[in-house]
Amino acid sequence: DADARAALEDLAVTLVGEVGALIRDERPDGLGVAHTKSTDLDVVTEMDTRAEALLRERLAQARPDDGILGEEDGMTGGTSGLSWVVDPIDGTVNYLYDLPAYAVSVAVVVGDPTTPGAWAPVAGAVVNPRTDEVFHAHLGGGARLTSRGRTRSLAVAAQPTLDGALLATGFSYDRQVRRRQSAVVADLLPRVRDIRRMGAAALDLCHVAAGRVDGYFERGTHPWDVAAGLVILGEAGGIASGADPGSPASTDLVVAANPVLHPLLRAEIARLTSADPR
Ligand code: IPD
Repeated sequence: DADARAALEDLAVTLVGEVGALIRDERPDGLGVAHTKSTDLDVVTEMDTRAEALLRERLAQARPDDGILGEEDGMTGGTSGLSWVVDPIDGTVNYLYDLPAYAVSVAVVVGDPTTPGAWAPVAGAVVNPRTDEVFHAHLGGGARLTSRGRTRSLAVAAQPTLDGALLATGFSYDRQVRRRQSAVVADLLPRVRDIRRMGAAALDLCHVAAGRVDGYFERGTHPWDVAAGLVILGEAGGIASGADPGSPASTDLVVAANPVLHPLLRAEIARLTSADPR
């Protein structure tokens, strides 16, 4: 019910606050790459590992029956039907370079977050510890931004057309996928206001929710990149779709915008990628 979802949101806010402070305050000088994952571009630092361990420790204490899907350690546990989908550092490359646009993303979902389309977020929080901004929401409760002790409601922008739209996107760690993504950007860029690549998918979705960009699209994100952002976006009046129509939790291709711009952006990306769906 609503009270239970609000309590889950509160816990997510507490967790991202603690872990956000850890990664900001204890980032070692001269931080390097500990190892790479899916490709040579997909980096992990010692702080990704430390931050996920802290999230898992806190969740094991507070919510021992829930599952946890984390970017670094995969899926563990879970008998309650709820799972926490966590990205200890979203925007790891920004973090590696100390660019101040990285986040901790914590969501609670129902269903199975390891199966595309089989889960849906019910609450979540995303912090950018460098700007001291926490975006947070639960289903039915609206979306809010808390910063420096003040909380305000979030709403998507009203931009109705593509030609005046400020868009955000992200690029895969797969160089082949990037080649195709660059073709989509090359086609869109002359026809919109501008395109940002800020480097953290969770923040991109929150920025659509806050009306700081008009839309966002990216192919090949993972549940931990988008789960919290999706509930925040939806509660701010935005629409997100995945590759399956009607399945906002499918993360193959995420397109996010206000309800007027969303179908236009979605159709445009579909047209540009129809010959080559990945
Ligand atoms: C990545 C960031 C990036 C997006 C990638 C994600 P990570 O997450 O969100 O902006 O383009 O698709 O994988 O690896 O920094 O947690």
